[in-house]
Amino acid sequence: MNKQMSLKGRDILSLKELTTEEILTILDTADKFKKERRKGILNKTLPDKTLALIFEKPSTRTRISFEVAMKELGGSSITLYSNEMQLSRGETIEDTARVLSRYVDIAMLRVISHKDLERFAKAASIPVINGLSDLYHPCQILADLQTIKEAKGKLTNLKIAWIGDGDNNVANTLIIACAKLDLKLTLACPKPYQPKKEILKEAGEANIIVTENPIEAVSEADVVMTDTYVSMGKDDERDQRLRIFLPKYQVNEYLMTQAKPDAIFMHCLPAHRGEEVTDTVIDGRWSVVWEEAENRLHTQKAILHHLLTD
Ligand code: CP
Ligand code: NVA
Repeated sequence: MNKQMSLKGRDILSLKELTTEEILTILDTADKFKKERRKGILNKTLPDKTLALIFEKPSTRTRISFEVAMKELGGSSITLYSNEMQLSRGETIEDTARVLSRYVDIAMLRVISHKDLERFAKAASIPVINGLSDLYHPCQILADLQTIKEAKGKLTNLKIAWIGDGDNNVANTLIIACAKLDLKLTLACPKPYQPKKEILKEAGEANIIVTENPIEAVSEADVVMTDTYVSMGKDDERDQRLRIFLPKYQVNEYLMTQAKPDAIFMHCLPAHRGEEVTDTVIDGRWSVVWEEAENRLHTQKAILHHLLTD
């Protein structure tokens, strides 16, 4: 580990704020926590620390894995839905952040608008973690990187294929991560749902290709990833999106056989079986989605540990 590096007190809002070395350090710590947990060892590095979790949108994995993570690290967590808070009656985001900073040691927010998360983080004096915004989902991509590293034994010389909606929070964060880690990424998306130019520009000169052709994307791919066609908040576009995405951008057995023979299939979940992925793939030999979901726990323990103790 680079001794100069300290993540203590920092925010994780997009992954842009982390160096490659910092990402790899978080992954190493996550591996260590995972191995220890398998042996029944829980390293309680955060005794008496409190995490606040605030949700503006539903969650299964993020909520439960963060609550369990904090408990296993020896701390505690408080989960709140924003409609139960004074936020819903007009208290400002900044005032909420200032007050929370007096009670808890760290906060995670799942927000509708990334701008609100940035406002909260600016006003807060505690570390702030993005638990999903309209633009980014950094905790998901850190867990995905841990999953790829475990399955492939490395995080170099790999090609990742992203199929479907290239203009969502998970895809945006994957673009940033692939640029930082020098992984090849090809996104196959219909024209209206390709990554925004600003996101590609932010990622720099990295080896990122956008195509409309899923076969081209999966060709020679080590990892095939997808996500829902209809992210939270986009439900009114559901019919139109399904018309555009189906059936060309579905990860099915045929598409998987066009990737490398040992390719893995990943999905952040929740999956919409029969839409972006078939049962035969998500339940098939390629799928590492349950390991991927488990890794949310280990990577988030690593995030909490580093933001509070480094
Ligand atoms: N992948 C993910 O963030 O799942 P939840 O929406 O269930 O938290
Ligand atoms: N892109 C999806 C991710 C869910 C974890 C959404 O925003 O709904």
